[in-house]
Amino acid sequence: MSEHVKSEISDGVLTLTIARPDKKNALTNDMYGALADAIGRAESDAATRVVLIQAQGDMFSAGNDIGEFAAQAPGAGSKEEPHVVRFLRNLAKASRPLVAAVQGRAVGVGTTMLLHCDMVILAEDALLTTPFVNLALVPEAASSLLMPSRIGYVRAFEMFALGEAVSAKDALAWGLANQVVPVGLLHVKARELAQRIAAQPVGALAATKRLMRDPQELTAQMDAETVQFVERLRSPEAREAFTAFAQRRPPNFSNLAG
Ligand code: COA
Repeated sequence: MSEHVKSEISDGVLTLTIARPDKKNALTNDMYGALADAIGRAESDAATRVVLIQAQGDMFSAGNDIGEFAAQAPGAGSKEEPHVVRFLRNLAKASRPLVAAVQGRAVGVGTTMLLHCDMVILAEDALLTTPFVNLALVPEAASSLLMPSRIGYVRAFEMFALGEAVSAKDALAWGLANQVVPVGLLHVKARELAQRIAAQPVGALAATKRLMRDPQELTAQMDAETVQFVERLRSPEAREAFTAFAQRRPPNFSNLAG
C-alpha cells in the first residue's frame, strides 16, 4: 500500500483514504496502484461489503499528478501498463457498492472516479472540475460516456471544454451526487451511509449493480479514450500546458495547430 493511501476496515466498510494533502491529493502511479489493489481485493473479501473512498485535507483530489503526466509525454512507449488503467477498470467492474465523500476541489480523475461510485456525498464547499481540454487532453475513465448520460450533453461538453467548476449545489441538482452536507459532517455522514448499505444483503446489491451498469461497455469506452489520451499527451499542446503549470503561468495555445 502506498504511504499516500490509507486503508481501514470495520463493520463491513473498507475505507480508502487518499492521503497526500501537501500536494492536494494529486494521484501518482503508486497511489493508483494501491487503490486498484484494494478495490480488486475487496471483490473476494467477505469482510468487505462496501468501499468508502474519501480524502484528507481541504481538497478531495487535484487529479492526476501533473509531473507524472509530463514525464509520460515524451515518446510514452509501451513499457508497463500504468496503474491508473487497472484502477479505473477495477472501479468499473466493482461489484461492491462504492461510496465517495468529497470536500473541496475534485479535479480531473477526482471527479470522473465519482461517476463510478454508487453513492456520492459532497461537502458544501465541493467543486467538481474536469479540465482535461485545458491540459490539452481528453476525458478519461469512461466519463465521455458517463458524464453526458448523467447530466446531459450540453452541460457535459461545457464541463469538458471550459474546465470550469461545478458547485455542490449544481452537482446535486444535476444528479452527480446524493446529498450535500456541512464540511465538518462529511466523513461522519458518509460513514453512516456506508454502514447502512453494508447492512443490506450483499448478493442483492451486487445483482442490482449488474443490472444497472455494464462494465464491458465502460471498459471499451476507457480503451477508446486511452488511444486519444496517449496521442494528446505527446502533443505540443500538452507540452505547453504542462510547462505552463510548472511555471505557474497561463498556457498559450494560440500558435499551436491541432
Ligand atoms: N499534480 C502535481 N502537483 C500538484 C497538483 C497536480 N495535479 N495539484 C497541485 N499540486 C501541488 C502544487 O504543485 C503545489 O506543490 P508545491 O507546494 O510543492 O509547490 C501543491 O500541490 C499545492 O498546490 P497549489 O497550487 O499551491 O494549491 P492551490 O490551493 O493554490 O490550488 C489547485 C489547488 C488544485 C486549484 C491547483 O493546484 C491546480 O490547479 N492543480 C492542477 C489541477 C489539474 O489540472 N489536475 C489535472 C487534471 S486532468
